[in-house]
Amino acid sequence: MNEPNNKGRDHFSSRFAVIAAVAGSAIGLGNIWRFPYVAGENGGGAFLIIYLLFVLAIGIPVMTSEFIIGRAGQKNPYGSFRKLAPGKPWYLIGLMGVAAAFMILAFYTTVSGWTLEYFYQTLTGSLAGKSDSELTMMFDDFLMGSFRPVIWFIVFMGFTAFIILSGVKKGIERYTKMLMPVLFLLLIALCIRSVTLDGAGEGLSFLFSPDFSKITPKVILEALGQAFFSLSIGMGTLITYGSYISKSEDLGFSALSVGIADTLVAVIAGVAIFPAVFALGGSPASGTGLVFIVLPGVFQKMPFGEIFQLLFFLLLSVAALTSTISVLEVIVAYLVEELSMTRKKATIAATLMVSVLGIVTVLSMGSLRSFLIFGKNIFGLLEFLTSNVMLPLGGLFIVIFIGWFFSPQLTKAELTNEGRLKAGYFPVYMFIVRFVAPLAIAMVFLYSLGIIRF
Ligand code: TRP
Repeated sequence: MNEPNNKGRDHFSSRFAVIAAVAGSAIGLGNIWRFPYVAGENGGGAFLIIYLLFVLAIGIPVMTSEFIIGRAGQKNPYGSFRKLAPGKPWYLIGLMGVAAAFMILAFYTTVSGWTLEYFYQTLTGSLAGKSDSELTMMFDDFLMGSFRPVIWFIVFMGFTAFIILSGVKKGIERYTKMLMPVLFLLLIALCIRSVTLDGAGEGLSFLFSPDFSKITPKVILEALGQAFFSLSIGMGTLITYGSYISKSEDLGFSALSVGIADTLVAVIAGVAIFPAVFALGGSPASGTGLVFIVLPGVFQKMPFGEIFQLLFFLLLSVAALTSTISVLEVIVAYLVEELSMTRKKATIAATLMVSVLGIVTVLSMGSLRSFLIFGKNIFGLLEFLTSNVMLPLGGLFIVIFIGWFFSPQLTKAELTNEGRLKAGYFPVYMFIVRFVAPLAIAMVFLYSLGIIRF
């Protein structure tokens, strides 16, 4: 399926494959684990509204911009910027992306390991019949134990490396196509059970009736960070995937579809979780353990709950896997294209380096728990630095690059596939990447640092 104009590179083979791969990257723990816990800590409804606004006004345009850069540059983020802006320092965005990839993989694979543990615990029946406080204790004991989380981290990292070794078409594509619809159906089933629990209404109003007095600079920064994290934008994952998109695909349409799908999954996860949190007597601000503590409680109240639970943690692992491969691919593409490594060497090197940082990150939730930097453990620090700082910063430079540096003719050529598509939204898109998105991101930064006040 390679077009003559992008010969030599491995490419996604169809429109469906593109959307499945990008959605596979976007949809993952960010939607099902991170969205509920961050929304829960930041006021629920008010957070949701700001989050939705950011996805629409910043997220989807940044995603489109990354596709443009990747497809025009035909390389990893560093190489694409080098090619599109020779002799200029834009490639530094690419390098920041590679650094962010290490950091994200370290904590993301940690949580992916938790999903494997919960799959395993379901299999052995040890979550069955546990009360909310017992489930909380189990989660804590598991993290404190330190040994098991490290093992699961290594197992998950191994799966990720294995898929990356098999390349774009055979690896990434094959594994992302079929499994996501099943996860989606499971989430719907969970929603139905959750909203029909006694006392569910309180959870729904927590998520859907905004209390604007809860909006603080921190809430706004968290919403921006979550939007970037959930959409996989700001560090070049989608530049890398963009370079694998064939010249006949519609970039704007792909970004819009994935943006909508990703947001839908996050909201549905919220509907599955918050009613249950309130009905079962938990707190929405329980932090990183939220879904691992709440959902087993919901499954207990479902017919065939254990089977659903088994399937759920399995599919959540798969959803996480289609995200970790997209992050590892950034590092591997960089090593292969810029340092002339073979794909195999690059994968092994990247995996080993990530694992060192990752194991320290796993332990920072366990035996190294009391070791804090700026009041955060390493896990929390990596999460904060990447989601709330590096990704928005990367996104800021990406839209400035497209809005003010890259030729509008070339941007239009990418969006219209050299005039073969209409792309009537082009003026709106340009307005957003020139003004709306850069100003919005800059303002959130200044506001959250306390430099400006409204
Ligand atoms: N978006 C993914 C999720 O929601 C995680 C992810 C994959 C990611 N690639 C990324 C996050 C790049 C930030 C940047 O689970």
